[in-house]
Amino acid sequence: MAKGHKDKVAVITGAASGLGQAFAKRLAEDGVDIAAVDLGDAAATVKAVEAAGRKAAAFKCDVSSPDAVTAMAADVRKIFPRVDIVVNCAGIFPQIPLEKVTYAEWRRIIGTNLDGTFLVSMAFVPDMKARGWGRIVNLSSSTVGAVVTGFVPYVTSKLGIVGFTRALASELGPFGITVNAIQPGLTMTPGATSRPPRAGFATMDEEFADVANRFQAIKRVETPDDLTGAVSFLTSDDSAFITGQTLNVDGGRVRS
Ligand SMILES: NC(=O)c1ccc[n+]([C@@H]2O[C@H](COP(=O)([O-])OP(=O)(O)OC[C@H]3O[C@@H](n4cnc5c(N)ncnc54)[C@H](O)[C@@H]3O)[C@@H](O)[C@H]2O)c1
Repeated sequence: MAKGHKDKVAVITGAASGLGQAFAKRLAEDGVDIAAVDLGDAAATVKAVEAAGRKAAAFKCDVSSPDAVTAMAADVRKIFPRVDIVVNCAGIFPQIPLEKVTYAEWRRIIGTNLDGTFLVSMAFVPDMKARGWGRIVNLSSSTVGAVVTGFVPYVTSKLGIVGFTRALASELGPFGITVNAIQPGLTMTPGATSRPPRAGFATMDEEFADVANRFQAIKRVETPDDLTGAVSFLTSDDSAFITGQTLNVDGGRVRS
């Protein structure tokens, strides 16, 4: 169990799938109760958290909607006494050629990834301030330091998250609240494998292996379990003096 986790409560967005689900399971194993927030059905995540012996509940919410986030926060407070930890994992990453990036698509991606991170963080900052302890972990992406195409709104949103992380850390440091981000590389999740492989690759497995072999120091495909330790650390007491930082967890793909 990580130091300081026992009986804490975490809100994890995007918790129905991929990284969010893996973080929910890991924090539950660390002794944390979980509010699993997602547009989709997070019942499987709730089951996994309960199997680890912790309390869990699912909350359907579109994190890009201010009204939906306000309603979700009220529902969370009916079930959990307080919120100590927020992990902002809900995100979308459609690959769109530049000439097809409409303003509506731009708004949808920035709205989900960046506005959602802002709205959910702000909804629970008062709880953390009141207790003088809090942890916020945001999801950026190694794409912000790599040559990728078709991701102009996505990379913009993910570097916006780095800026938000830094600025919010400055605001909340005096209140015992840390704010950090992690930058995964290309990671095997339902979201990342749901699109067709890029030209030149027969399957997504081939594309993933190529990225790992050519761009990472550690030459294997990243999985959600490669990231859970970082989230556990950044939400624990052990990281109490680390804030405003962005941690690359990508097999050595990006150095900063
Ligand atoms: N998988 C990767 O290669 C990778 C790499 C770098 C960063 N990331 C980031 O990690 C996060 C999780 O990605 P993943 O790979 O687990 O994807 P995923 O698609 O498997 O899971 C994302 C979850 O977010 C939810 N979601 C999407 N829009 C939402 C909204 N408006 N409101 C609430 N929930 C919403 C989805 O329903 C889904 O359950 C994202 O922010 C993504 O940008 C992923």
